[in-house]
Amino acid sequence: MPSMHLFTFGILALLLPNAIAAPTSNTAAYAVKERHDAPQGWTKITSPVEYQTISLQIALKQQNSDALTKIALEVSDPSHPRYGQYLSAKQLLGHGIDTAALSSTRDWINVDLPVHKVESLLNTTYFNYRYTDGSTLVRTSEWSLPVYLHGYVDLIQPTTSFFRTPKPLIHPTHEHVPMRRHQREDLLETMPNDASGSSACNIGKLCDPTETSLRCLRCLYGTMNYTAQVPERNMIGVTSYHGLAQRRSDIRQYLKKFRPEAVEVADTFPIVFTADVLDHYENLTDPTDLAEADMDAELAIGISWPTSFMAWSTGDDFIEWMVYVLAQDSLPQVISTSWGANEHTWPLATTTRLCDGYKELGVRGVSLIFASGDAGVAGVRDESCGSEFHPTFPASCPWITAVGATKGFEPEVAVSAYGSGAGFSNHFAMPKYQVDAVHGYLEGIGDMHAGMYNRSGRAYPDVAAQGARTTIVTSGIKTSNSGTSASAPIFAAVIALVNDARIAAGKPVLGFLNPWIYGAASAAFTDVEDGSSVGCDTDGFPAADGWDAVTGFGTPNFDRLIEAAFSVFET
Ligand SMILES: *[C@@H]1O[C@H](CO)[C@@H](O)[C@H](O)[C@H]1NC(C)=O
Ligand SMILES: *[C@@H]1O[C@H](CO)[C@@H](O)[C@H](O)[C@H]1NC(C)=O
Ligand SMILES: *[C@@H]1O[C@H](CO)[C@@H](O)[C@H](O)[C@H]1NC(C)=O
Ligand SMILES: *[C@@H]1O[C@H](CO)[C@@H](O)[C@H](O)[C@H]1NC(C)=O
Repeated sequence: MPSMHLFTFGILALLLPNAIAAPTSNTAAYAVKERHDAPQGWTKITSPVEYQTISLQIALKQQNSDALTKIALEVSDPSHPRYGQYLSAKQLLGHGIDTAALSSTRDWINVDLPVHKVESLLNTTYFNYRYTDGSTLVRTSEWSLPVYLHGYVDLIQPTTSFFRTPKPLIHPTHEHVPMRRHQREDLLETMPNDASGSSACNIGKLCDPTETSLRCLRCLYGTMNYTAQVPERNMIGVTSYHGLAQRRSDIRQYLKKFRPEAVEVADTFPIVFTADVLDHYENLTDPTDLAEADMDAELAIGISWPTSFMAWSTGDDFIEWMVYVLAQDSLPQVISTSWGANEHTWPLATTTRLCDGYKELGVRGVSLIFASGDAGVAGVRDESCGSEFHPTFPASCPWITAVGATKGFEPEVAVSAYGSGAGFSNHFAMPKYQVDAVHGYLEGIGDMHAGMYNRSGRAYPDVAAQGARTTIVTSGIKTSNSGTSASAPIFAAVIALVNDARIAAGKPVLGFLNPWIYGAASAAFTDVEDGSSVGCDTDGFPAADGWDAVTGFGTPNFDRLIEAAFSVFET
């Protein structure tokens, strides 16, 4: 088979340019490289048409992954002398770390091949699989490579990944009222003028549980009185998938009403398209799903203004965004993403590769914030769970900060209209920084849900913020939506302001947050002690004193976060 020879030779040539080790025979011994059965809900149906083309992505193994981990831990650990000494992409190369994704050509090989060729290269058989919602994918449950190549290749997709598309983590809250009820005219006439009035924060008066306003959020988390000092040197970004992007007219309308001093941003913030949007603009027709990008931007700008703001619009694939972003020289210091999927829809090698990329962003000094999911212990969306809870990814990656959702004020409690995404990873081990906090919690809950979750996995969320009936403007209409979708940009915007204070004082930004959150900052949150991460026809995990698998350490308190941000060890 000449094609197999070419393939293996091609990979080798790319891997070992100085050691052209042409295989002497094309009958090299194959062994299974990866096996990942179709998750529940997928049924094998027919064989694909043999000349159908598959666009294969081959990820070569990263070099020096251990060195990267060491640096990431040091620069993110407030008690380490290297804390805050982030590295640029170039400096990483100087450390011999030629990772991810420094460019899409270095570590990734893309080839378009007909199915039958891919089948012979990987000694596998592809099938059409159908999901319960009728959508189909061409996949296989295992693939092989010549044994001598196993050490050079991390993953090849699409093979065993049943991950289809990430989901926006947003919910309609006017369940019984069509969104169109709020007409545009109403918007301008009947909305209370949120921006007027004194700077006094009377939560009881200001915060309405049926409509969580921007002003309420700014008061509740304590950023109302803070004036950003270095907005031009500080930035927050949000990411949208499916080729979705903000409608500037919505952002303008929202800011005009709720943060009038910021209104110009609506027409000036950059929206960077990392994929061909026409290829990716998906059939998301639910107006709630479409509201995601607007909500993320409105909350992020509304809270962090005048901090610089940007948005990405990307395709369906987390890898594509990661590869793109890692190749940029200059990045926002805080990035919020309100999209996710259930961890088990990806094979381990893929989530591992993504999480490594997030770790690298930590080394670059970026705080990555992800929504934790809207179905409690069932993950992103309600689905039957069988005998196991479903963790969500990227929330389950130990190199990012996952944000759960609360509702109510004085006190805030975990949301109950949906479950705040929470649980324990099956792909990632519990990182050291959270062992004490999480073990304390596990002792407290004893054998509740024993066997349904992985007690040694990375536990999430890390923190929480409001995620119920948040006021937004979308499609020209004022409405309110819920979801950890709101929680993530709210939390991210508060962190952007803490970064502002650090930069203004000549200090590095906070970077990867978790070692700090579980350490010096653990008391800088308002603990949430009621509610649970409902899902899988169970009550999920209960909120508790201190860290819990519903709301993490709780919601941000800006003054205390500032204090914690300035109390850390620094050389
Ligand atoms: C390919 O896989 C089949 C089993 O699916 C196995 O019998 C065969 O030996 C494999 N071929 C090679 C070259 O390893
Ligand atoms: C802002 O500061 C002023 C003056 O110190 C104070 O009176 C007011 O209550 C503060 N507002 C908030 C929201 O903390
Ligand atoms: C969108 O959905 C319609 C109906 O379900 C389908 O006919 C059309 O091909 C879809 N468009 C894209 C770009 O997938
Ligand atoms: C539980 O988590 C550990 C650590 O990540 C992992 O090695 C193990 O495979 C997981 N167990 C299951 C059943 O997924």
